[in-house]
Amino acid sequence: MTARAAASLAGRVRVPGDKSISHRALMFGALATGRTTITGLLDAEDVLNTASAVTALGAPARKTGDAWVVLGRGTGGLKQPDGPIDFGNSGTGTRLMMGVIAGHDIAVTLTGDASLSRRPMGRVLKPLRQMGLVTREDRDTLPLTVEGTSRLVPIEYVLPVPSAQVKSAILIAGLMAAGETTVVETEPTRDHTERMLRYFGADVTTTVRDGLTRITVHGEAELEGRDVVVPGDPSSAAFLVCAALLVPGSDVTVEGVLVNETRTGLYTTLREMGADVTFLNRREDGGEPIADIRARYSALKGVHVPAGRAPSMIDEYPVLAAVAGFALGDTRMDGLAELEVKESDRLAATAAGLAANGVAATIDGDSLIVHGTGHVPGAGTVATHLDHRIAMAFLTMGLASASPVTVDDTRMIATSFPEFRGLMERLGASYAEA
Ligand code: S3P
Repeated sequence: MTARAAASLAGRVRVPGDKSISHRALMFGALATGRTTITGLLDAEDVLNTASAVTALGAPARKTGDAWVVLGRGTGGLKQPDGPIDFGNSGTGTRLMMGVIAGHDIAVTLTGDASLSRRPMGRVLKPLRQMGLVTREDRDTLPLTVEGTSRLVPIEYVLPVPSAQVKSAILIAGLMAAGETTVVETEPTRDHTERMLRYFGADVTTTVRDGLTRITVHGEAELEGRDVVVPGDPSSAAFLVCAALLVPGSDVTVEGVLVNETRTGLYTTLREMGADVTFLNRREDGGEPIADIRARYSALKGVHVPAGRAPSMIDEYPVLAAVAGFALGDTRMDGLAELEVKESDRLAATAAGLAANGVAATIDGDSLIVHGTGHVPGAGTVATHLDHRIAMAFLTMGLASASPVTVDDTRMIATSFPEFRGLMERLGASYAEA
């Protein structure tokens, strides 16, 4: 698909539901007793694979009208599925579900696409093995058969990487262990698991001391089915907001977006770059903060993005790098090691996409420096490597570059944001099949 320069972008839109919260709502609904009703669930491939997974494990998840209903089986109440479960492109679905399976006397074969099959699972398997999970194969990548147990052992685990997926898998398994399971974070990561588990009735405590965050879940927990409202995904809104900042004359509002501060590092960074981005009409729903985000075209300057901010904007670096090409001066982003193990090696894929479109960028260890000149030539073709966010980042960049930008594959956009093209075009963008 090719993106070409847009005249100006304007309007009020909503983005689909948050992907992280959608996965969790389905899984916690399956582990709860009774019925969970979810409105605003992200209707995209990654989440649909999780819905199929909980259904295969005996907790049917179905769409009825605008809502999804999950019939829960209670913690420890899921059953042996009839065959392998395919998680497609989704690391979150796979890793969190390993925590779910861990607490059940079942053996489940997990599979995924070429991108997911390359991603490291050892980071979740290591703590889950300490709790009692067994893997049949002697490797840490999919396909894998994992065997859970109803006699999980609680652990205390210091996260070696800042990963909400690893933290969540351990806490979910901890629901089914006898005793208290604690995860210690040296860098805070998104806390949707903690918030939603409390909402479903689990006893989860968080304490912060000496820069460490300790999260403890009390095991043999009982969850109760709830009504969940999923807010708009800030990682999807990011593309619309960035497009508005780059295209002269634009004024765009994205309504009802999750603004939990473990997710808003991009917006902080954009403001430091000089962007006119404001959170309006702040409110709270289902234990999460929400706002309407207004973005207007802005002249931007390069900034230094500290490593400590990485967890709160980990999925937004590709689009920030695209934006940084339009800023005046260098933008240095530190602490990007985790980008190398996303749906693609995002550090390399982002740098290559910039280079293909005439933007100078340097990789220095786990830092990326984009040498912004205020002008992006474009005219390049970007290899997306089965990565939805690489595709969308460069389709955003092409709306303001001098010549069009082409991406080689847009199929993966359906894993997180199937409405991407439609919403961008509603605001005034124009895309063509290459
Ligand atoms: C997610 C956590 C992050 C993020 C991913 C979703 C989650 O991954 O990149 O898109 O829902 O917990 P890591 O935990 O690997 O950092």
